[in-house]
Formats: sequence, structure tokens, C-alpha cells
Amino acid sequence: MIPVNPERFLAELHELRRFGASGIGKGVVRPAYSEADIAARQWLAGRMEAAGLRPHFDPVGSLFGLAEGPSLLMGSHTDSQPEGGWLDGALGVMAALEVARASREAGGPPVSVVSFEDEEGRFGVTTGSTVWSGKLSLEVADELTDREGETFAEARARMAHLAGDFVDPKQFTGFIEMHIEQGPWLDQAGEAVGVVESIVGIRDMRITLEGQQNHAGTTPMHLRRDAFQGLAEFNSLINERFRNVVTPSTVWTIGHVSLHPDAHSIVPGRAVFSMQWRDGEADRLARMEEIIRETAAEVADRRGLELSYGPMLGLEPVAMDARLRGALEAAAEEVAPGNWRSMPSGALHDATNVAVHMPVAMLFVPSIDGISHAFEEDTDERDLVAGLKVLAGAVERLQS
Ligand code: GLV
Ligand code: MN
Ligand code: MN
Repeated sequence: MIPVNPERFLAELHELRRFGASGIGKGVVRPAYSEADIAARQWLAGRMEAAGLRPHFDPVGSLFGLAEGPSLLMGSHTDSQPEGGWLDGALGVMAALEVARASREAGGPPVSVVSFEDEEGRFGVTTGSTVWSGKLSLEVADELTDREGETFAEARARMAHLAGDFVDPKQFTGFIEMHIEQGPWLDQAGEAVGVVESIVGIRDMRITLEGQQNHAGTTPMHLRRDAFQGLAEFNSLINERFRNVVTPSTVWTIGHVSLHPDAHSIVPGRAVFSMQWRDGEADRLARMEEIIRETAAEVADRRGLELSYGPMLGLEPVAMDARLRGALEAAAEEVAPGNWRSMPSGALHDATNVAVHMPVAMLFVPSIDGISHAFEEDTDERDLVAGLKVLAGAVERLQS
């Protein structure tokens, strides 16, 4: 097996955590294009160079560590959610770096490494890899805004001094992404590793309801055009109407709400909120969209609210490549005999976009108590190392 060095890997993973360390547990605050994110990427570029890879930033700030000639590509992302854990994305990048370096030291197969930018969707949904896949043009991406109204163009300009061209995907023979599961199943079963079968699809958009801002003491209830009441009614109606359409694995979330002007004594004149839904089947995602649009229109009409939508973002469900997946399964059986499973991914990953260019596969390790996108996110270090070994074992198998 490629002689990976678990101590070196863990030490670097902890070093990366210092960029944007939240001070609460092992949490990090390293959103895309923040100072911490850019500093972490510059540090990572140095680690890549020291490992014999050629660091290269593309126009959106995705960082590649390139091996010479054709190579396997591995990695994930190093940006975080506004409140994130130390492993989401970071694990896949640092494990890839260790495998690439160990393989090079041992004269093994060439491996390139990547940390995609804005996987966590400050601007879009997995923005950096979506642009690289060609599904989203740079021109359209540049118009996307974060929730404070900053544009993607403004944000990526902060890395313009580092940026080169887009990397030609033809030099890569396939992509493997290791990640924490971010759900409860492996942890509950006491299993060390999950080999991903498929990644769910997602739809995500911003909805705005506009009513009439007014005095909360003097405006009679029947005369109000209260944007929050519209949002609340919309939420209960879709929960009911989805019931006949969804399966137990379908999920939907209103994760961001902004009320204007956001004050105790003012009837809210405007509600802007995120609406996101995920499922393994594109038809179901489309049916849910119909319900969302019909319900929002109905509520807006009944309550005298103006309704508008932001751009609809989305990724299709994607199956993993059989050959790459087979290599991961064989390596998992060697490292954790009888103690791994095949499973779908309910979280999104850059692999979905990379699949446009090349075969892709993914590997999961457990998340303690199934917690992620929170400061408490963690994984037993034994599981981190087991995952690293499975990754190395798969690379070796793919060489032959
Ligand atoms: C990516 O982090 C996701 O939201 O699944
Ligand atoms: Mn992630
Ligand atoms: Mn994430």
C-alpha cells in the first residue's frame, strides 16, 4: 500500500484548523473569500509545493496542486459554512495531499490535489466546481450575491492577484473525494467507512414577499399586509402539500430568513428567505418546485403581497463511477473488513460537478452523533486514519 503517514496528515489537518478557528470546540469560521479562507489557501499552496506539486489558483480561487502529466485528482474544499466544523471539506483536501505526497515519495502513481472555492454556497451552490464544470458561466456567476448583497465578482476580485487560467480537466483520469458523512448512519452502526453510491440532487432559491411596512400598535389585523405572516403560512402549507410527494429521504429547508426592517414594533414589510430542497430523483425535485411556486403565488395573492424569486440554482443527482467505486470498496474491505457499507450522500459535494469532466467516486468516514455544519462537528481520529488508508488503497488498486 502507498505508505501514508497518519501523524503528518493529522498534524496538517489540525494546522489548517487554525485558519478561522472559532474558539468554540474545533469549529471554524472560514467562509469563501474571507481573510481566513484566502490565508488558508495560501498556506495550502505552500504545502502543495513542498509536496512536489505545482500550486495553481484558477479565476474563482479554486486551488489545484498539479502533478506532472496525466494523474488522478483528489480533494474537496477548504471554505466553511458561516459556522462550520474543522473537517467538512478540509478532511478530503488534507487526505488527498498526504496520499499525493506519500505516493510521490514511494514512486507510486501521480496524484493531483484540489481545494474548490465556495463549495459551501456563500454565492451559489458549490460555486467554484460548478463554474469549472461549465454548468455555470463566469459571467452569470459574477452576478450572484451573498446575503449581504456582495457580488461574486467583487469577492473573487480579492484573489485576482493569485489567479491563473482554468485548469484543463483532460489531464485528470478520475476524481476521488473523501469526506465526513455529515449524517448519523455510520456512527450509529459503529462502522468505519462508507463508499458512496450516488449524490442527491438539489434545488435552491431565494423567495421575496413584499407587503406594507406599518405600525405594529395601530394597524388592525385585517388591514395588514404582513410579509412574515405570508412566509409562516407558506411554510405550513408546503409541509402539508409535500406529504404526498416526498419519501423519507427527501429533505427541504428554510435556513435563512431576513425580515425588513426587523423590529419589534413594525409590521414587517418584506420577508426574504431561502428555500432549498433535495432528493435523489430529478422528477420529484421538479414536482416539489411546482408545489412551492403554486403555494407561494396562492399565499401572496390571498394576503396582497408581491412575490418574486431569485435565480434558481440546482444540481442533478449523480451516480458514482463503478470502477472507482469498486477500488474504494476493495480497499475498504481490506482496511475495515466487514465494517463498512455502501450508501447514498444526502449532502452535496464538488464530485457532482466534477462528474461532468471525468469518472468520480466518494468515500465517507463517520461524523460523531451525525453533527455537521456546526462547531461540534468531529470524527474519531482512528476513523480519519482508516479513511486515509482506504483512499491510499484505492489509488494503488487503480494503478494496476
Ligand atoms: C454542502 O455542504 C451541502 O450543503 O450539502
Ligand atoms: Mn463539504
Ligand atoms: Mn458543507
